[in-house]
Amino acid sequence: MRYLTLLLALMLSSQLFAQQPVLISVTEASDSPQISRHIYGHFTEHLGRCIYEGLYVGEENKIIPNTEGVRNDIIEALKELNIPNLRWPGGCFADTYHWKDGVGPKDERPTIVNRWWGGTTEDNSFGTHNFLNLCEVLGAEPYLSANVGSGTVQELIDWVQYTNHDGVSPMADWRRENGREAPWKVKYWGVGNETWGCGGNMTAEYYADIYRQYATFMPGWSGETEIYRIASGASEDDYHWTETLMKNVPYHLMEAVALHDYAVFDWSDKGPSVNFDDEIYFKSMEQALKMEEYVTKHIEIMDKYDPESKVALFVDEWGGWYDAEPEVKNGVLYQQNTIRDVMIAGTVLNTFNNHARRVKMANLAQMVNVLQAVILTDKEKMIKTPTYHVMHMYKVHQDAQLLPSKIEGNMEFRELPSISVSASRDKTGKVHISLVNIDPENEIPVELDVAGLDIKNIDGQILTSDKLQDHNSFDAPEKVTPKEFKGAKLKKGSISLTIPAHSLIVLQGK
Ligand code: AHR
Repeated sequence: MRYLTLLLALMLSSQLFAQQPVLISVTEASDSPQISRHIYGHFTEHLGRCIYEGLYVGEENKIIPNTEGVRNDIIEALKELNIPNLRWPGGCFADTYHWKDGVGPKDERPTIVNRWWGGTTEDNSFGTHNFLNLCEVLGAEPYLSANVGSGTVQELIDWVQYTNHDGVSPMADWRRENGREAPWKVKYWGVGNETWGCGGNMTAEYYADIYRQYATFMPGWSGETEIYRIASGASEDDYHWTETLMKNVPYHLMEAVALHDYAVFDWSDKGPSVNFDDEIYFKSMEQALKMEEYVTKHIEIMDKYDPESKVALFVDEWGGWYDAEPEVKNGVLYQQNTIRDVMIAGTVLNTFNNHARRVKMANLAQMVNVLQAVILTDKEKMIKTPTYHVMHMYKVHQDAQLLPSKIEGNMEFRELPSISVSASRDKTGKVHISLVNIDPENEIPVELDVAGLDIKNIDGQILTSDKLQDHNSFDAPEKVTPKEFKGAKLKKGSISLTIPAHSLIVLQGK
């Protein structure tokens, strides 16, 4: 009898202290926006081993199989991601780049010194044709970032004519001479990069005027090509920059404003990419989650001047940025990629999805061997990073309709919200819910109210590993890969699951 009472008391107390689930409602709203596939865009710069010794190994390379000099294994991996767009040639490099140096016979091209990134000398062998042909092979929209800092208006409009004009014109004729008959019809054009910094150290007021001048002379050239002119936008919380652009540039001259925000907690000591401790992990996540605040506040300003959402917000550089791995030759900004990067990518992409009304493009920095890369290479070897797998799992949101979600009673990892979520319904009717638990130690029970979504079956995938520091290496390329997740139970319009510590789950409901 005594044992029975004790057992009852124990059962009661464990029920009393059992963690209450975090409640998340996911609803259908006819007026909710489409999540632009361009939120899943990428970025490549002439920096470290991103282009040379990364993506591009040269047309003459007989050891690494390639298409016009671009590695076939990378092309295959990128096709699996459905990459929607690719930004090039920078970054800071863009405002030193003169595109005419990179077209025509390779042996006649001048060499240049990459003053921002290691002072390396390059031979301009990767140029406009390589880049735009690669985008065609990938089925991705090219996004050219034009030189405002050290270029001219004429140089930019010549580039537009070269890539987009299908009639007779000096630049279109030159393109044909260089072996390309049909124009590529490039839609996305960046007018300078970080013009508040490496792109010219301009004030917002000065740049707004310069921008108006450049944008005025950028026609579509081929009649059908709709040009998207993208103004160099703010860094992080520089709201004055956004306010000035929105106030001073008329709608008809600007299709988007591009924000930059990296998850860096201290620019003078960014910490290691793998051997970070709990404190650094916390600070990285604190910084990554600020994306929500920045995007919300920049959008508030844009809404004030542009209530009809004519001008889009692009976040054309984002990602984690740590100290470079010292042992990699020419490894400028080369860093490894761990479960911390999974947490950053998952939470930031949820933010972009949830703000899809105004956020129409984002570009992860950078695609190969630089910063939060999806691909790392070492001579003939190539690996997919944990961030690659996040982009793969999240591609289901591309062009799907956002399903608004609301979290109640979120748990906290220190003072940060532990759980992040976004959801969408794709064109075939399937529902996808992406959930991230950033808590490094605690699993969290979650109850999803999906009563209005008519879901009959649920399955999912999970991306996690034992330790936050786990990563894929050239010796163990499959250490962090998605696994089937069978822990979600659907009952009477509600899904219950427990999200393990530091893990990311994408559920699929049919
Ligand atoms: O992505 C690396 C650099 O970060 C880019 O060149 C620049 O735009 C930003 O400061």
